[in-house]
Amino acid sequence: MTVSDHFRLRDRHILLGVTGGIAAYKTAELARLLVRAGADVQVVMTEAAGIFIGGSTFQAITGRPVRRSLFDPAHEAAMGHIELARWAELILVAPASADFLARLHAGLADDLLSTLCLASEAPLAVAPAMNRNMWRHPATAANVEALRVRGVRVWGPAEGEQACGDQGPGRLLEPAELLVRVGEWLGQGSLIGRKAVVTAGPTREPLDPVRFLGNRSSGKMGYAVAEALVREGADVILVSGPVSLDVPSGVRRVSVETALAMREAVLDAVTGVDLFVACAAVADYRPRQIVDQKIKKTEETLRLELVRNPDILREVAALPDRPFCVGFAAETDALAVHAEAKRKAKGIDMIAANLVGGGEGFETDDNALLVLWEGGWLELPRQQKTRLAEQLVSVIAESMDAQATIEDPR
Ligand code: CTP
Repeated sequence: MTVSDHFRLRDRHILLGVTGGIAAYKTAELARLLVRAGADVQVVMTEAAGIFIGGSTFQAITGRPVRRSLFDPAHEAAMGHIELARWAELILVAPASADFLARLHAGLADDLLSTLCLASEAPLAVAPAMNRNMWRHPATAANVEALRVRGVRVWGPAEGEQACGDQGPGRLLEPAELLVRVGEWLGQGSLIGRKAVVTAGPTREPLDPVRFLGNRSSGKMGYAVAEALVREGADVILVSGPVSLDVPSGVRRVSVETALAMREAVLDAVTGVDLFVACAAVADYRPRQIVDQKIKKTEETLRLELVRNPDILREVAALPDRPFCVGFAAETDALAVHAEAKRKAKGIDMIAANLVGGGEGFETDDNALLVLWEGGWLELPRQQKTRLAEQLVSVIAESMDAQATIEDPR
């Protein structure tokens, strides 16, 4: 299985047109994000684009030679331009210069990119980038309006400081934003463009150089959640305690041992993310002292003094610009009551609770969950943790969307 099998844009054919503009350098990042999302990307550059960025950059990122000219015999023999037009499932021109928009409007076909735009039946999107006066010029405005009427998607431009020093509309949308639009348009992945941090596994609290306090968490649920998030298109960092599981493809893993190290790794990773899912079984206490030498069995009894570990989930939930926070709860009785109390006490958006005791929950391949959030709940029946994680992730995605709609009712 390749990395791309895990991504929602996998094997989608995206023709990425690049026209002449300073923002062309950002298109390299966009190409990288599309490839990382599993897409098969063919870059087509206009002659003017070549002034701003080299074709070898795109070739290295996409693994496909850049196409530039209409009648290049070498390329035409491999895949002719009409074949290329049929190959594309979506054409995105980024940056789209004022000149290119005008030529597109006029229906010119005097270079490869404009010809492909005419010859292809694939949906077409343009991400304009230019000086603000060029953008506001009635000629450009008329071209853009005509293209919109024709069904061309116009993404951006954004407002802000321009390469020429001016302030105003004309900046290329950020690559991550363009990726989200591509994902939405192709109807793939409920979490495309979202960033998530997941904790998983147990922590180990050292006593001496060879011993630690630990727990039975296998990390399976956390790893399944990380994998399900990636499948929905999210960019995932997995902060994991010691487990014997492979890193799911497409997930970035940060390995830690102690609760304090997990806290530090989470706080480092969580800035600017949209979602935090705390699956780890973090040790509530750690030995007050870690002794340098191995503890010898000289005494009949041994007392250990333990101190409380910080509650990572509670801390993340209290951050000013906090992500959507999901926690887990293991309860032996009155599942809904205790879990809801825990959700409120920790100030989190959602809690996934399961009954423990009698061999349930830990170290098993299956589980059942009661998921609670403000004003709603759902019971996910006993099943494989991988399936369960997929269902949990879809509940999370829906809940995040619902929250965003309440915050921004437009
Ligand atoms: N958690 C955490 N940091 C801790 C302890 C817990 O991030 N130091 C997270 C866990 O990852 C999980 C949730 O908080 O998402 C569990 O909360 P906790 O209060 O530990 O619940 P239980 O494990 O059910 O423990 P108890 O009922 O004994 O308090």
